[in-house]
Amino acid sequence: MSTFKIAVIPGDGIGHEVVPEGLRVLEAAGKKFGLSFDFTHFDFSCERYAKTGHMMPDDGLDQLALFDSVFLGAVGYPGVADHVSLWGLLIPIRRGFDQYVNLRPVRLFKGVSTPLANRTPEEIDFVVIRENTEGEYSSIGGRIFSGTDNEMAVQETVFTKRGVDRVMRYAFELAQKRRKHLSAATKSNGIIHTMPFWDERFHALAKDYPDVRTDQFHIDILTAHFVRNPDWFDVVVGSNLFGDILSDLGPAVAGGIGIAPSANLNPERTFPSMFEPVHGSAPDIAGRNIANPIGTIWSIALMLDHFGAPEAARAVENAIEAVCVSGPRTRDLGGTASTQEMGAAIADAI
Ligand code: NAI
Ligand code: MG
Repeated sequence: MSTFKIAVIPGDGIGHEVVPEGLRVLEAAGKKFGLSFDFTHFDFSCERYAKTGHMMPDDGLDQLALFDSVFLGAVGYPGVADHVSLWGLLIPIRRGFDQYVNLRPVRLFKGVSTPLANRTPEEIDFVVIRENTEGEYSSIGGRIFSGTDNEMAVQETVFTKRGVDRVMRYAFELAQKRRKHLSAATKSNGIIHTMPFWDERFHALAKDYPDVRTDQFHIDILTAHFVRNPDWFDVVVGSNLFGDILSDLGPAVAGGIGIAPSANLNPERTFPSMFEPVHGSAPDIAGRNIANPIGTIWSIALMLDHFGAPEAARAVENAIEAVCVSGPRTRDLGGTASTQEMGAAIADAI
């Protein structure tokens, strides 16, 4: 029996409600498929920041580096600026552990309704691959002449050949395992240095993957196609900013943010990868036990895939779908169930 060591960071808000449900489902899958897990909880959060002035201790990354993966709920809370929680915890983990692939699957489960008229589960099933370490989210830039009429702000975008190539190669290889179609998000008409570079690398790398059909769209029309033609897509690769936007839009067409999962992957496994729902800490519903745990539980399936346990991962996804069809369902899916009732039902379905 293999034992995987998992660092658990519930974080803030509904992170405390959904993370236990993810762990419950992970235990159920482990029991069925002969995997065991060793959990260590960490209190890295805005609450910790309020007490100590830091989201995590100075050696936080060194502590997490000892684990096979990191399982995170969400961070962010009113009273602590969002850039503090993001740059104090999530971004240091993603960058420190070189988790350059942010993988966000979008799938309409049976039993879940979509705001798009007449769309079926077969028509909404794609994966957004977002570059996760560079691009538009760089800390290079600054402000001068603050408080005067000449005040100005500059923010630099960073695209490196290494950074662009490695995330695109990951996307091409994923497409090879799926329906062999890769779409790239660009904006090379308006952004005239970095985006033509991105396009150039996409065309150059495509030659190494002749079995993958490729296309590219400017980000503006691409957002429209996600709504009008979700059936066009299999794997979609985007820069940090474009991938971020697409990966919230994607779940919105497939049943909502409460369902969406994500993996922050270091494919070389030099460092742990991190698994977390796409949603945030939802302070508006925190503490009421009504949060949908599916985004968190589906992230567990991504973790199992990363651990090389695809049967267990598919069992978790099938259990999610079975419960979406039969209930119980949380409020965002039109039901009245609590977070715990839905998590328990999914664990039972495994
Ligand atoms: P949010 O995702 O927390 O909430 C957006 C809306 O979706 C809210 O109305 C919320 O009630 C609802 N929602 C979210 N998750 C849900 C779930 N599982 N079940 C049912 N409804 C759900 O995003 P928001 O409001 O923009 O941010 C709140 C805080 O979370 C901020 O501090 C933000 O910085 C942080 N945040 C953290 C993220 C992370 O840790 N990865 C990602 C996004 C936001
Ligand atoms: Mg986002």
